[in-house]
Amino acid sequence: MPQQARRIAILGSTGSIGTQTLDVVQRLGGRIEIVALAAHRNIALLAEQARRWDVRHLCVADEETAARLSGEAVPPGSVVYSGRDGLTSVATLPDVDTVVVAVAGAVGIEATHAAIASGKTIALASKEVLVAAGEHTMQLAREHGTSIVPIDSEHSAIFQCLQGAPPGSVAELILTASGGPFLRATVEQMREATPDEALRHPTWNMGGLVTVNSATLMNKGLEIIEACRLFNMPPDRVHTLIHPQSIVHSLIRFVDGSVLAQMGLPDMRLPIQYALLYPERLDTGLPRLELADWSPLTFEQPDDERFPAISIAREALAAGGTMPAVMNGANEEAVAMFLERRLRFFGIMEVVHAVMNAHVPGPARYAEILTADRWARSMARSLVDGPQDCDNGTAGSAA
Ligand SMILES: NC(=O)c1ccc[n+]([C@@H]2O[C@H](COP(=O)([O-])OP(=O)(O)OC[C@H]3O[C@@H](n4cnc5c(N)ncnc54)[C@H](OP(=O)(O)O)[C@@H]3O)[C@@H](O)[C@H]2O)c1
Repeated sequence: MPQQARRIAILGSTGSIGTQTLDVVQRLGGRIEIVALAAHRNIALLAEQARRWDVRHLCVADEETAARLSGEAVPPGSVVYSGRDGLTSVATLPDVDTVVVAVAGAVGIEATHAAIASGKTIALASKEVLVAAGEHTMQLAREHGTSIVPIDSEHSAIFQCLQGAPPGSVAELILTASGGPFLRATVEQMREATPDEALRHPTWNMGGLVTVNSATLMNKGLEIIEACRLFNMPPDRVHTLIHPQSIVHSLIRFVDGSVLAQMGLPDMRLPIQYALLYPERLDTGLPRLELADWSPLTFEQPDDERFPAISIAREALAAGGTMPAVMNGANEEAVAMFLERRLRFFGIMEVVHAVMNAHVPGPARYAEILTADRWARSMARSLVDGPQDCDNGTAGSAA
């Protein structure tokens, strides 16, 4: 009997993960039906996607952009939503089974929570949802019996390794990191590193922010927080290991000493496909891993001195509340200033740490998270550009 198509909404369809999701949907033939697409301002690509997939629920940044999108050639009868409320509306449409959350930034949190509360399965790429609001998100998922299937390759690897693992059997999680472009660089070379050098990732092809985060290892710091939240693990049982070939995506160690790893080519379409089909697996013709072509696979400990991001993330995790959101917001702003050539490479972590030191964490509720995120961005800018108006709420107030 033919399988019923899974009906999905993609939040962030025009981005790196969003477009790769559409590629996977194409490969899966009729197994996935796209009900809704959301982007920010790239209306040309969104309209093209809507026509290609005959999608009639569309969402963009604001009413003005929505009016411009309606003027594009979108399928007849399309409903165009806008803003945060619009994102929530498309994420909770009754026809949607699975919501792919792939928007950049904290904007995805509210829509994800609404989707969980209305019983949708979540295929989660947006790190901010678990970094900034992880405890609340997982609590909601437990209350509503909702599955959150990670798309991030490391968390997908752990999620896959955990299938069938009895409760209490896992001793630790080991997240692998490629080490980024500065794995072998000296302190002097890193001090002078340019954006072009930081954007030259050796194994993964990703957006600018994620690539610079891989160069500082902040990406791993964010992933430690994500892993603690997603898998309900204490921080001292989540470790990192440098693995320059990016073939082993992560590992788990069981209490009996056995270690399980998930391997694959560094291609985000694999974890995306797994999240869309979970728990099913299908051959869709993606390139295959031939281990003999990748020999030798090597592993080493990260160097905390050149890469302080991991210990900074652990500090944010220990402080709790709004601190991880502040760390994330400050980091995004610092990376943007580095790419604008207004901050040196080591300045990224100096700014993040200084912003965290000025923050008194409040409870990690949605409103406080957004306030803390805004405050952290403004504070990060003011540390580089001189004073700005950073006083916009109690959760973000300076100590
Ligand atoms: N790229 C990767 O390989 C990778 C791997 C693991 C995890 N992730 C995580 O996945 C998330 C997305 O990453 P990405 O690399 O795909 O980012 P990206 O290429 O920058 O795409 C971001 C997407 O979000 C949309 N967007 C931005 N602001 C929005 C808003 N306010 N409302 C609605 N949509 C908005 C963008 O729309 P416009 O195009 O209209 O601006 C775009 O579709 C991030 O959290 C990232 O950390 C990415």
